[in-house]
Amino acid sequence: MKKKTRSLTKAKSKEKSILGSKSRGHENSQIKFLTRKVESLKEWQRRLSILLKFTKEASTTTNLDSLLVLMVEEAKTVLMAERATVFLVDKQKKELWSKVALGAQPIRVPSDRGIVGAVYTTGKLLNIADVYQDPRFNPEVDKKTGFRTKAVLAAPMRNKKNQVLGIFQVLNRTHGGEFDQQDEEILTLLADQAAGHVENSYLYQEIRKTAQETVIRLAGAVEYKDYDTRHHLWRMSQYSAIIAKEMGFSPEWVETLRLAAPMHDIGKIGVPDAILNKPGKLTAEEWVEMKKHPEYGFEILSGSNNELMEMSATVALCHHERWDGTGYPRGLAAEDIPIEARIASLADVFDALTSKRIYKPSFSVEETLKLIQDESGKQFDPKVVDSFFRCLPQIIPLMETYAPRSDQQKAVPTPAF
Ligand SMILES: [Fe+2]
Ligand SMILES: [Fe+2]
Repeated sequence: MKKKTRSLTKAKSKEKSILGSKSRGHENSQIKFLTRKVESLKEWQRRLSILLKFTKEASTTTNLDSLLVLMVEEAKTVLMAERATVFLVDKQKKELWSKVALGAQPIRVPSDRGIVGAVYTTGKLLNIADVYQDPRFNPEVDKKTGFRTKAVLAAPMRNKKNQVLGIFQVLNRTHGGEFDQQDEEILTLLADQAAGHVENSYLYQEIRKTAQETVIRLAGAVEYKDYDTRHHLWRMSQYSAIIAKEMGFSPEWVETLRLAAPMHDIGKIGVPDAILNKPGKLTAEEWVEMKKHPEYGFEILSGSNNELMEMSATVALCHHERWDGTGYPRGLAAEDIPIEARIASLADVFDALTSKRIYKPSFSVEETLKLIQDESGKQFDPKVVDSFFRCLPQIIPLMETYAPRSDQQKAVPTPAF
C-alpha cells in the first residue's frame, strides 16, 4: 500500500514537472512571438515616420526633379536598399531611362528587355531574391558600373488611366536578404505617388507649351502680322530665359519670363499702321506716336492678378527704359527698372541686331557683341550684360540655327514652340 502511494506521488510529481516545462515552453514561445510582434511594430513605426517626414517635405515641393529625388531617397531609407532608381519611358526611342538614380550613372535600356523591361511590358511588380539566377537580367550594367546587383524589387508607375509611365526600382537590402511583402506594398505606394507627380508635370508642361505658343502667335499677329516677327518673339523669349536662369532666378520665374517676354511690343497695336510700316525714317511727331507703345501695352496687360500677366505688363511698359535713365516712357534708371524688363530688353536688342529684317541686314556677331559691351552701363544693366556674355555658348547656337542671317541664304527651321 505504502509502495503504491509512493509510486503515485512520483508519477504525480513527474506529471507536474512535465506540465511545468510544457507551460514554460509555451511561455517562451509566447515571449518570442510577442518580441517579434514588437520588433515588427517598431519597424512599421520607423517606416511610417520616414514616410510621413518625406510626405511633409514633398508637399512643399513642386519641381518634378526635386520631388523624384526626394522619393528615391525615401525609398532607399524606408526599404533599406542600397540603390533606388526611377526610370521613365521614352516612347519614341522605345527605351527606359533613369530620370533619378542616386549613387549611380544615368542609364538607358530597351523598354522590352531586362528586369525593368519585363515590369514595363507586363505592368506587374517583380521581386527577385537573386537576380543572377534570372535569365531576364542583363549583367552588362553591373559590368559597366562595378556594382553587384543581388535582390531587385521593381514596381510599375501607373497613371490614372492605368498606363505605365515608368518603373520604380530598388536594389539590394543593406543588411542582405530579400525584399518581403511589406516592401512590395510600400514600393507600390511610392510608385503610384511618383506616377502622380510625373503625370502632373507632363500636364503642366503641356499647358505651358500651349500657353507659350498662344502668346507668341497672338503677340506676333498684333505686332506686324508676319512670319519673321513670330520667330523674333520666340528667339528673344528663349534668350531672356537663358539669361534669367544664369542669373540664378527660380525655374518658375524663368518660365514666367519666357512667356511674358514675347508680349513686349503688344502695345504696337495702338500705333497707326502708316507709322508702324513706314519704310523711311520717322518724323519727330511720328516718333512721339511710336514711343507710346509701351504704355498701350501696359494698358492692355495690366490690372490682372495673374503673375504672368503682371510680368507681361511690366516688360511691355519698361522694355525701352535704359540703365542710364535716358529711355522711355518714364525715364527710369538702374534698379528702378524691373529686372524682367532689363533682361528682356537686352534679349530683344540682341535678336533685332543679329537677325535680318526686310528693312535691314543682320549685324555680325562680333559687331553685335561689341555694341552690347559698349552699351553696358548705358542702355543695359552691366550685371545682365555679364550674364549674357556667360550664356553665349547657349545663345549663339540658337541664333545660328533659328535667326535669319544676311550671310546665309538657307531658310531657318520653324522653332518648336
Ligand atoms: Fe518695343
Ligand atoms: Fe522686339
